[in-house]
Amino acid sequence: MPFETAHPLRQRAEAILAQRSGPNRRIEASTLRLNHELQVHQIELEMQDEALRQTQADIDDARQRAATAAELAGVADRAKEAFLSTMTHELRTPLHQVLGALDLARWQSTNAEQIKWLDRCSAAAKTLQRLIDDVLDLTQLKANRLSLDRAEFTLDLMLQGVLDTLRPRAAAKSIGLDLEVSTQLSQQPLIGDSARLSQVLYNLASNAIKFSSEGRVTVRVTSIEETDLSVLMRFDIIDTGIGISADDCKRLFRDFEQLDSSSTRAFGGSGIGLAIARYLVLMMGGKISVDSTPGRGSTFWFAVRLDKGPAPAAT
Ligand SMILES: Nc1ncnc2c1ncn2[C@@H]1O[C@H](COP(=O)(O)OP(=O)(O)OP(=O)(O)O)[C@@H](O)[C@H]1O
Ligand SMILES: [Mg+2]
Repeated sequence: MPFETAHPLRQRAEAILAQRSGPNRRIEASTLRLNHELQVHQIELEMQDEALRQTQADIDDARQRAATAAELAGVADRAKEAFLSTMTHELRTPLHQVLGALDLARWQSTNAEQIKWLDRCSAAAKTLQRLIDDVLDLTQLKANRLSLDRAEFTLDLMLQGVLDTLRPRAAAKSIGLDLEVSTQLSQQPLIGDSARLSQVLYNLASNAIKFSSEGRVTVRVTSIEETDLSVLMRFDIIDTGIGISADDCKRLFRDFEQLDSSSTRAFGGSGIGLAIARYLVLMMGGKISVDSTPGRGSTFWFAVRLDKGPAPAAT
């Protein structure tokens, strides 16, 4: 019986019984009242039960929709990765041919004007090649499809390689480029992926030069902790460039993130370098971060632990 109908009926029944006299009537009246209250509670319980059932149904529905959305997002992500991976592979082959042909033409040409144009073409093609490689790396890193090499190497060759590549760029802006590392650390045989380590260093050091207009860029490598089997080392890339505000520091290291994303921005690039550096350092089990003061400069740093290689045999 619905609550609204039950209530006036009970009142009428109680009124009729109250007109009669005798103890039995009083017992009947209170039994009737208790019965009625029980019914009311029963109805309230049923209503609460129904509301609970409805809430549970809503929760199940939301869960189902979230699962479907996650599944669709996963499918879209995989399709995007497959597309990017295929496209970058397809772009690489003709680009290699273009670079090869430009090199040949460059070395066969004796005309100074032609050489100038061929050099410009080569530089542009190399920038494009780097971008394609970066996009492919990022896609593979995000899809967990990139694995790290484990080979023996020493820091000295790796560090010199990175610095030599960057020296012309620093010199063109009259920016000093220094390396600070102890001989002991730089000649310590290590085991790891030196190519990926140098990629991280290159990305950070090339940023340091790009976002500085004067001063120096210092690459400092220090050993934080050493055991018989491994060395925990820290790489600091210190610049005297434009610096980054505390708020902007939080946005760094995300895919395609550039602090100045306007079309009129002064610096080239696609916002991939730091994201790749972060993925690689995390894959190596390390940590990457930045300390910066706007207008004064930044120190990007990362720390990784590398296994020691066998000591070179005495000659
Ligand atoms: N040393 C630095 N000083 C000041 N800002 C920096 C520095 N390094 C990075 N940034 C900021 O972080 C952004 C992201 O850097 P990231 O290396 O990922 O991209 P990019 O250099 O713009 O392009 P890409 O590396 O893909 O060629 C940069 O656009 C810049 O705004
Ligand atoms: Mg960069």
